[in-house]
This record gives sequence, C-alpha cells and structure tokens, in this order.
Amino acid sequence: MELTLRRDSRDPLYQQVADQVQAAIRAGTLPPGYRLPPVRELAARYGLTRLTAHSAYAELQARGLVESHVGRGTFVANGAVAADAPPTGDRVPQWTGQGILADLLRMSEYPDLLSLAQAFPDPATYPLRDLRQCLQRAAADPAALDYGPMQGDAGLREELARLLLDRGMTVTPEQVLVTAGAQQGIDIALRALGEPGDVILVEEPTYPGVLEAASRRGLRLAGVPGDEQGIRVDALEMACRSYRPRLLYLVPTYGNPTGISLSAERREAVLRLAAAHRMLVLEDDVYGFLGYEFPVPPALKSLDRDERVVYLMSFSKLLVPALRLGAVVAPLELLPALGAAKHTADLVSSSLLQQALAEYLRRGHMAAHRRQATATYRPRRDAMLAALERYLQRCRWTRPAGGLSLWVRLPDGIVEAEFIADAMERGVGVAPGHAFFPQPQRQAHLRLSFGLHGPARIEDGIARLGRVLDEHLRRRSDVLARAGRITQPLV
Ligand SMILES: Cc1ncc(COP(=O)(O)O)c(C=O)c1O
Repeated sequence: MELTLRRDSRDPLYQQVADQVQAAIRAGTLPPGYRLPPVRELAARYGLTRLTAHSAYAELQARGLVESHVGRGTFVANGAVAADAPPTGDRVPQWTGQGILADLLRMSEYPDLLSLAQAFPDPATYPLRDLRQCLQRAAADPAALDYGPMQGDAGLREELARLLLDRGMTVTPEQVLVTAGAQQGIDIALRALGEPGDVILVEEPTYPGVLEAASRRGLRLAGVPGDEQGIRVDALEMACRSYRPRLLYLVPTYGNPTGISLSAERREAVLRLAAAHRMLVLEDDVYGFLGYEFPVPPALKSLDRDERVVYLMSFSKLLVPALRLGAVVAPLELLPALGAAKHTADLVSSSLLQQALAEYLRRGHMAAHRRQATATYRPRRDAMLAALERYLQRCRWTRPAGGLSLWVRLPDGIVEAEFIADAMERGVGVAPGHAFFPQPQRQAHLRLSFGLHGPARIEDGIARLGRVLDEHLRRRSDVLARAGRITQPLV
C-alpha cells in the first residue's frame, strides 16, 4: 500500500489517507480480507501522529470499507468493493474535499449530528402560514408562471428598495438586480467585474463561497488580516499598493465567520482607499438584518458617495433559504454587465417565488418576522458565549453583535483536523477554520454557528467540544513531557 500525502493540501492528512485507501479498495488493489498496516506502523511510515492514522482508519470504518478486530488488526471489509452506500443517520459525516460549501450542506444528511458547523437559520422560524398565503396568491396569477423580466420582478425590486431603507440605503428599483441568493450575487459580480488574473482582496478570515467562486473564475486571491474592528486599514492600504486589486470583497456587518462588524471609522477609510485606488468593493450583507444589539451598523453602501460599492443581500438567513432569492444593488453603469452574467447563469430567478416574496413584503410581514428571528437567535448567541466561558476557557473567541456564527481560536499546538475529527466522533459538527482562508494556516480555528439549536443543545455541544479539547491538551502535554525527559542531559 503506497500513499502520497501532501502537507500543503487543504485536505487534512487523515482524510488524504482515507481517500487513497478507499481508491485502492475500489480499484481492487486492496482485496477484501487484506490486512492494513497497524496504526503504529502506518504512522511511522508516513510521519503521521498515531491519532491521525487512527482517525483515517476510523473514517474508513465509518464508510463501511474496513473492519477492525481488537488484537487482530484492520481488514478490508467483505463487500467493500460494491458501489458507495448512501449515507445513513448513524454514520460520522466526512469532509470529502469537494469544497467546504458542499460538505456543510451534506451535514444535514446526518440527523444525529449536533451541527454547530452550519450558519443556517432555524426552520422553526420559517413563517409558513404567511408564506403559504403569499405563494397561493402569486400562483393565481398566470404571469407568475412566465419567465418574467431579466432584472427581476418589478414589484419585488420596488419592495427591495423600500426594505433597504432599513440598512440606511436610498436606492431606486432600477439599481436592483434580483439574484438566486447571495452566492449567485458573488458569482455574477466576479464574472462581470473581474477578468481572469485580476487580484481580488478578501478579509482574512472570510466566507469560503467567495474563495471557491474566485478560484473557479481564475482570479488571484490576496488575504488582508482583520482584527476585532474588521479589516485592518494599514494592511489594506499596503495590499492596494502591492497588488492594484480590481475588487475588495467584505462582509462588513456581522461577518462570516467571525461575526465581527467593521467599525464606523474603518468604513469611511475603506471607501477612501477604494476611491484612491480605483477599486470596487463587493459588500456582502447577508447577515445585516440579523442584529441583536443597538445600534445596528448601516450598510457600507449607504456611505458610498463615489459609487464604488456593489451591494449583495439575500433572504436565505433572514427568511428561508429555499426561496433562493437575493439581490445585487449596483451603480447603474455596472448593471448591464451584471445582468448579462445573471442571464448567462440561469436566465431569470423564478417569477413565482419572486412574486410571492414581493407579496410577503408588501403585506408588511417582514418587521414582525425579524423581531421574532432576532429574539430567537440572541439567547442562542448568549448561550454559546456562556458555554465557551465555561468549557473552552483555554480558547479565544469573538463576541458577535449579530449574525449566526462566531470564531474560536484553539490553543497553540492543537491540530485542527484532528480536533475536528474527534469532535465528529463525539457527534458535534464544527466548521474547520482553514476553509476560511485563501492560504494554508498553521493556527487552528473553528467557526461555530448558533442558529440551528436551542440554548441547552448549544451548551451540550460546547461541553463535548470542551472534553475533546481537554483530551487533546492532555495528550499534547504528555508528548511534550516525554520530549522534555528525552532532551534532559543524561548526567
Ligand atoms: C457571507 C455569506 N455570503 C453568501 C452566502 C450565500 O447565501 P445564499 O443562500 O443567499 O446564496 C452565505 C451563506 O452562508 C454567507 O454566509
């Protein structure tokens, strides 16, 4: 059995081992009954920790490909060469390497998992009755079953312009382009506004959806560090000088993954830099309507005197993800290019759903829904912060005033992939920190989301993470103590 492991890969080592062994089993190179090397031998041969080697075998076992027999070893399972079995509720979910977004969506297939990995809204907040009535009303109009206008339903664009007043923005319906959620907004903005080879700046850490979309578009990504007030202006200025970037992507309000908001002074500074360096700013405001403390920062776009900001929003976090509706608001001269990119992607967004959403907004349901949603999430955020104080004191974390996630820095020396694999074994899903950076990272981080569970489940999840961390810290101090003993002078 020969493996080729890449330490600079985004895929954790245990997963690389598991994937390569799986490929060899599927190809028939490792037949049923074949005995895999013992954990200790595998670890020594490839310079892995035993925990990594063990995690790889545990993953293969969870995939139904190997069987472990105490005292005898690990063997390729009978029937392992058969087609992939569909995932079932009692399996441990895997990071497949198909991209973090795909992996996060796939976590929903594991009902037993306590997922703190997904920044999803709680289905219990969905306004089913109101939405059903609005859908019925829309479906009664045959025009709602047409393709509809390319820029989006006129009634919806009017309602959007009205809704955005809440974000401090005064825009006309002509500036609004309806999209299939914010992810499509990002994708079409990158297609319309960037050429392959252009540099796009992102705050570090940032939303992985922009990293995936930018690399697929052939854009070069450069990270700019942030702190507790958002992206650092000194570092941004340096990056503008070094890279002459086309675009800066930011989630300035309740950012993903940190939950941090860009301070008022920095908002002005970012816009000054954008004007000075002829750079556009792509403002992703998907969490801007989910603020738990006052004042809620107005959108960066509301300060955009030089027309440098292209603004994105979505109803996925605010209302229901399945609408797949959002909007881009852009300076008028950019709209033809953005519209063409949208048209190429999917012609138009569903007229039926747009008209239903327009009706929902027209009937004035949104204000009450927002109150109810924020009243649901605020105590969950508080429960997560309290549980972190209680169970993860050795870590550092952010304190978001809105949004659905916060960001945890694990103590030095903890190996992120191993921690996450063990958390999964304990039934807790967390989003791996490395996925939020354009470059590989040494420091271990987690993104924890609090939208999906009530306070008691959140506390249970964090308590389990606390036990995993204690175990890892204990193991690490054992290793260090042993190393210390060996390096003691022998006199
Ligand atoms: C910052 C950010 N932007 C965009 C998206 C994509 O959202 P949508 O469902 O609207 O495509 C997400 C989803 O998690 C997000 O966190």
